[in-house]
Amino acid sequence: MSSNKLIPFSCQIISATCQDVDQAFQDLKRDMNPDFVHVFLDKIQRYSIKPDRALFLAKYQRKYIAFATIINQAQAPEESDQTTIQLLENYACGTGLMVLPEFRHRGVASQLVKQWEIWARQHSLAGIWVITRQMSDWYQRCFQYSLLGTTTRRRVKKTILSKAL
Ligand SMILES: CC(C)(COP(=O)(O)OP(=O)(O)OC[C@H]1O[C@@H](n2cnc3c(N)ncnc32)[C@H](O)[C@@H]1OP(=O)(O)O)[C@@H](O)C(=O)NCCC(=O)NCCS
Repeated sequence: MSSNKLIPFSCQIISATCQDVDQAFQDLKRDMNPDFVHVFLDKIQRYSIKPDRALFLAKYQRKYIAFATIINQAQAPEESDQTTIQLLENYACGTGLMVLPEFRHRGVASQLVKQWEIWARQHSLAGIWVITRQMSDWYQRCFQYSLLGTTTRRRVKKTILSKAL
């Protein structure tokens, strides 16, 4: 990990349109469970088209190496109390973030998380929230997200985090 950090790494971050989706799917699907690649394709198609959300792609040497998705007005988790529901109404929701394994630990995800913040500010939203199974500590340590609660979906417990902007 530390050796990669010494190498300056510069990739291009774009806000994708529907014309970017086919190549993004081809480049990024290899790190995904084959049973769920159709879900990924459906998701990035929707996020590249609809005005209430965005698909960000990181490109390096003509290949896509990472993606992140964000949406305005996602529904709060089912068990949320009224205070949480009201808070999240005015927050964007980060719904997907992945960097291909050979490009990790070079700050690519950090650039995409930064892009979430820019997008949320551009849409006059007060913050960002995410749900994660394993990366709760990471969001808190690297990006100053705070714990908001937990939610259980299909018997999998996940953490809800948020960050005011
Ligand atoms: C989590 C993930 C997106 C990080 O991508 P990345 O490009 O390697 O992240 P960065 O290089 O921007 O790292 C930012 C910081 O997080 C640290 N970090 C990176 N991956 C980490 C991991 N898996 N666990 C803990 N810390 C991690 C880096 O060391 C760096 O910290 P530092 O600046 O204090 O050294 C990537 O590992 C990934 O795609 N994982 C699989 C999908 C996933 O878990 N997505 C998150 C969904 S909630």
